[in-house]
Amino acid sequence: MIVLGIESSCDETAAALLRDGHEVLASRISSQIKLHAAYGGVIPELAAREHLKNISPLIDATFAQAGIGLQEVEALAVTNRPGLIPALLVGNSYAKGLALANRLPLLGVNHFEAHIYAAFLNQPGLLQNPANFPLLALVVSGGHTALVLVQAEGRAELLGSTLDDAAGEALDKAAKILNLGYPGGPIIERLAKNGDPQSYSFPRALSGASGKATPREHRFNFSFSGVKTALLYAVKERRLNEQQLADVLASYQAAVMEVLLSKSMAAAEEYKVPMLCLCGGVACNGYLRRRFQEECQKQEKQLLLAEPACCTDNAMMVAGLAWHYFKHGLQDDLSLPVYARLPEKLPKFPFAPEFQAVK
Ligand code: KG4
Ligand code: ZN
Repeated sequence: MIVLGIESSCDETAAALLRDGHEVLASRISSQIKLHAAYGGVIPELAAREHLKNISPLIDATFAQAGIGLQEVEALAVTNRPGLIPALLVGNSYAKGLALANRLPLLGVNHFEAHIYAAFLNQPGLLQNPANFPLLALVVSGGHTALVLVQAEGRAELLGSTLDDAAGEALDKAAKILNLGYPGGPIIERLAKNGDPQSYSFPRALSGASGKATPREHRFNFSFSGVKTALLYAVKERRLNEQQLADVLASYQAAVMEVLLSKSMAAAEEYKVPMLCLCGGVACNGYLRRRFQEECQKQEKQLLLAEPACCTDNAMMVAGLAWHYFKHGLQDDLSLPVYARLPEKLPKFPFAPEFQAVK
C-alpha cells in the first residue's frame, strides 16, 4: 500500500511516498531555515506563506522522484498536531483537497509519535519482536524534550518532559545570544568540536549534579532555561576569542546532552527496558549519539539511533506511521482538526507488535 505523507507543522514543507510503512519511494523537503534565520526563530505567518508557495511544486517533485502518479496512491497522511496552527492549516487543507478530489482515505498524524516511528524506518523488523519492549524513546527536537515509555501493546506513557525550554530550543537560543545563526544545534556542534567541555561549569537542572536532590516527581523532567541564563551571564560583556568560544560551546553542549543522557539511563534502569531509541532533530548531534552509544553498551541495552535524515522534520515518518493506522482500519474524515499541542493522553502506538485497534 502506497501512502503519500505531508508535513507542514513548522518550518519545513515535506512530502514522501512510502510503500508498506518503510519502503521510501521518494522524500522531498523544502526548508525555510534561511527565511527565518534573520529572526532567530520561526515566524508562524511567514512559515504558512512559504508552505503555501511550496507545497504544490514539492508534491509534484515527490511524484516525479518516485516515478509514479497519484492514481497509485491508496491513502493520504498529514501531520495535524502539534505545531504552528497557520503552518499546519496549509498541509491539512491541501491533504483534504486531494483526499476529496481523489476519494482517498485521510489520516491525521501526531508529529511527536511520528518522530519516534522515524527511528524504526530503517529497521522495521525491530517492531515485530515484543522482547524489545517496553521501549524507551527520548524525543529531542526544537519543540519537545520528552521521555516516552511504549509497551508492546502500544500504550504510551509520558514519563517526563521539559518544564520550560526544549533541548533544541536551548541550543537555538544560545546561538542567538552569541549571534551565531539559526538553527543553533548544528552550528554549536560544529564550533564545539575544538572546545573543552570541562572548561565551564554550566548548571544541570533537576539532575542532582548541584548536590541538591531532585524531587521524585521531577526525576524524569527536564529544565533548560537555567543553563541558557547561565550562558548569558558567562558571555555578557566579554569578547570571546575563537578558542574561548569553542570552550563555552563545548561546555554548554555537554551540560544539555549529559542531562538528556543521565535521565534516559535512569528511566531505562527503573523500567527495565531492553531498548532505547533516540529521535528528533537534536538526535543528529554527534556528541549525544556517541554518549548514548557508550552508556547503552555499558548497561547492555539495545540502542536505536534514528538516521540523521530521519531525525529532523520529514514526511517519511508521517507516511510510514500512517500506514500502521490504515493497516488496522483506522482513519479520519474531512472534519479532521489541527491542534497546537499534544493531547493530554498519548494515543496508543499502532506500530507496537501487540497493538490491537479499538474502533
Ligand atoms: O525535529 P526538528 O527538525 O524540528 C522540530 O520538530 O522541532 O528539530 C529541530 C531542532 C532545532 O532546535 C535544531 O537546532 C536541532 O533540532 N538540531 C540539532 C542538530 N541538528 C538539528 N541539535 C544539535 N545538534 C545537531 N546536529
Ligand atoms: Zn519535529
